[in-house]
Amino acid sequence: MKQTVKTICQLKKEQKKITMLTSYDYTMAKIVDEVGIEIVLVGDSLSNVFQGNDTTVPVTIEEMIYHGKAVVKGIKNALVVIDMPFGSYQINEDRAVENAIRIIKETNAQAIKLEGGIEIENSIKRITDAGIPVMGHLGLTPQSIHQFGSFELQATTKTAQDKLLKDAIALEKAGCFALVLEKVPAKIGKKITTALTIPVIGIGAGNACDGQVLVINDLIGLDPTFKPKFVRQYLNAHSLISAAVKKYLLDVKEHNFPNEKESY
Ligand code: KIV
Repeated sequence: MKQTVKTICQLKKEQKKITMLTSYDYTMAKIVDEVGIEIVLVGDSLSNVFQGNDTTVPVTIEEMIYHGKAVVKGIKNALVVIDMPFGSYQINEDRAVENAIRIIKETNAQAIKLEGGIEIENSIKRITDAGIPVMGHLGLTPQSIHQFGSFELQATTKTAQDKLLKDAIALEKAGCFALVLEKVPAKIGKKITTALTIPVIGIGAGNACDGQVLVINDLIGLDPTFKPKFVRQYLNAHSLISAAVKKYLLDVKEHNFPNEKESY
């Protein structure tokens, strides 16, 4: 079934869990989509896991569009959401709406995601007024890493939790169709999920959220050195790939590849 913002919101109404995963290329997007994941996010986490940067800050709008185009080609059913990268929506509302339109026009994705609370509500209104569905992102917002100073748990104090709730309500009012909530205590994850009518998709925000999102590279264990508490590694892809590459290396060195069947 082709997912739309309406079908995603309906899942919350029916109390059915929503699944979301990142993808950055055609092949992976195709696998994730075939399994039936409802939302595929072209996350700016590609800055870390694809480009090798320490943060999501350096990734550009052109790079997000490049990956977005590849992902969209691999998708039949999932809703494709593309992250607006750092610098593409913070300057002013005109820039935000212009860049959101550019991303949707050039990639053919269905929605965009941006990080922040009350301070970006006018941009969210303008983007949704232009007909583009917006997913919000609160809690640990990695584009603000230099303000946070580290990737630690957010909303640990009563003041921070009150602000988080206010921000979440403001995003819903501004027109977001869903919200990602990252690395906050499970208790506040539950409170925000209950307070909002739009779906709340958690990453390190506990089991009460309407859905869950993970970075696909973390789920399949491509980098075993990166394993925050909220990640469940379903596969050790690093060791599987490494073993296959070693076998290939040996086969070539020992004149075992290609064999007769593999030759013309
Ligand atoms: O960029 C990303 O992958 C994200 C998810 C972690 C939600 O924003």
